Amino acid sequence: DLYNFRLIGADTKFYGIIGKPVGHSKSPLLFNAAFKSVGLNAIYLHFLVDDVEKFFNTYSTPDFGGTSCTIPHKEAALKCMDEIDAIAKKIGAINNIVRRADGKLIAFNTDYIGAISAIEDGLRGLNGATPAAASPLAGKLFVVLGAGGAGKSLAYGAAQKGARVVVANRTFERAKELADKVGGHAMTLEEVENFHPQEGMVLANTTSVGMKPKIDLTPLPKHALKHYCLVFDAIYTPKDTRLLREARDTGAVIVYGTEMLIRQGFEQYKNFTGLPAPEELFRQLMEKHA
Ligand code: ATR
Repeated sequence: DLYNFRLIGADTKFYGIIGKPVGHSKSPLLFNAAFKSVGLNAIYLHFLVDDVEKFFNTYSTPDFGGTSCTIPHKEAALKCMDEIDAIAKKIGAINNIVRRADGKLIAFNTDYIGAISAIEDGLRGLNGATPAAASPLAGKLFVVLGAGGAGKSLAYGAAQKGARVVVANRTFERAKELADKVGGHAMTLEEVENFHPQEGMVLANTTSVGMKPKIDLTPLPKHALKHYCLVFDAIYTPKDTRLLREARDTGAVIVYGTEMLIRQGFEQYKNFTGLPAPEELFRQLMEKHA
């Protein structure tokens, strides 16, 4: 009972997720339930896609509304777009494509919005009175571990909010390259252990250290965590990583990777439909099907 079968016809708008593999994605579950909850004549499908260019050439009719985009197409899809959101362009990866009424394809990266908004809300809870318009990240020292796709999203997102960014990575050259691009500072993971020019810093892990099945690992030892007021982990399997458990013990606010995942979905829904996302419904479904 996921779909509005009663409504499905020639004028049904269709959306989907393109990727390879793609069958594991829970996006169809979330988006179809959301469409149904507000009576939208729309459907969201899995598309197992090899050739993104061919895909967008084939599906160019007015009933096509757009797609989510996952591995391995987040970069290759860039060349098929008519317009790309400025930060998504800098990150060099997109995960949300909308076909506008004029037929143009416009792309976004909702990963960085999901992560940064979750971190901002965590900081707002901590500081209480930050006005919604001002980012609590402005002026903060923001340490990003990792310099891959997720690292880029966090570093660009934080820099855009006025944070002072430090990028640390196992391969120092990648840290340096990203730090230079965002106007930040690069260091090695070992250097971060002894880096505490001030208290109340923000830490974002985007490395795969601590991801299932190696859940005993952590990218930064516990003693180094005490200088951070908030710790975010982009890993969501497991939800409660060793890094987050130790940060919680140390007294930091923690922000789960699942929060980034769900919030990036809210942004995609808004971009697709122009409507606010049914946040509670998304949360319930994610929990039920975790
Ligand atoms: P994603 O797109 O999810 O960010 P990625 O591009 O493969 O994935 O990046 C993975 C990140 O985890 C990189 O920053 C990687 O460090 P390197 O650039 O040195 O490869 C980091 N990483 C992976 N395994 C690691 C390990 N055992 N210790 C430290 N960092 C690790």
